[in-house]
Amino acid sequence: MDIDKCYIEILQLVKQAGSIVNEKIYQYKNVLTKSCDVDLVTEWDQMIEKLLIDGISSRYPDHKFIGEESTAMGQKVELTNAPTWIIDPIDGTMNFVHGLPHTCISVALLINKTAEIGIVYNPILEQLFTARKGQGAFLNGAPIHVSDKKELRNSLVMIEMGTSRDSEKMEIILQNIKILITRVHGLRSFGSAALNMCMVALGGADVSFEFGIHAWDIAAGDLIVREAGGVSIDPAGKHNCKIL
Ligand code: IPD
Repeated sequence: MDIDKCYIEILQLVKQAGSIVNEKIYQYKNVLTKSCDVDLVTEWDQMIEKLLIDGISSRYPDHKFIGEESTAMGQKVELTNAPTWIIDPIDGTMNFVHGLPHTCISVALLINKTAEIGIVYNPILEQLFTARKGQGAFLNGAPIHVSDKKELRNSLVMIEMGTSRDSEKMEIILQNIKILITRVHGLRSFGSAALNMCMVALGGADVSFEFGIHAWDIAAGDLIVREAGGVSIDPAGKHNCKIL
């Protein structure tokens, strides 16, 4: 498989998706809820996921997909060794709904369960984060690198409240904030796990963490962070965060 060609093609599709986000962000949207009142989806999340899947399938009929909205509609999540695209059509849907410009399209290609391509695109702020396995990470074509901070007390930490309102989970999040707030330089929350990770890749933030995240939120960000010289670990502390 020609991954260079694939990369150029997916970039074109992501740019098309970006034009939709740009056009619709400040317009009225039909908003539905998924797992709870704050887990939102719009017609544009579904439309962009379809645009990406149709665009890839027409060129590569044997490729597989794990997409946030297809999964929400009941499609089984299965990661095999086949080329598999992991797609979050709009990460930061809540921001997109409100018109807060921290929202992005997140797409990763895994082959043999290993990430080859990671793209996170915020079309509103014109930030295109890209990574290819072994080739480094880039923002709008310029190389990026994680910060050199080693101490938590000097770190800017990205944290998320997530899209669940499970009381036990909320309690843990609040406890974590309480513990961290006096031990770090600052806590930040962009409302998009993918963009949070890209801020770490950029060196603008030093850490990003969240529990209960989905594969589509982190698949592209994981490669971008690692290609920017960072590490991505799961809650048990294992290096090479397992996406699925
Ligand atoms: C959500 C965002 C949010 C994170 C949630 C995700 P979505 O993704 O990344 O920052 O806290 O866990 O589900 O629903 O906007 O695609």
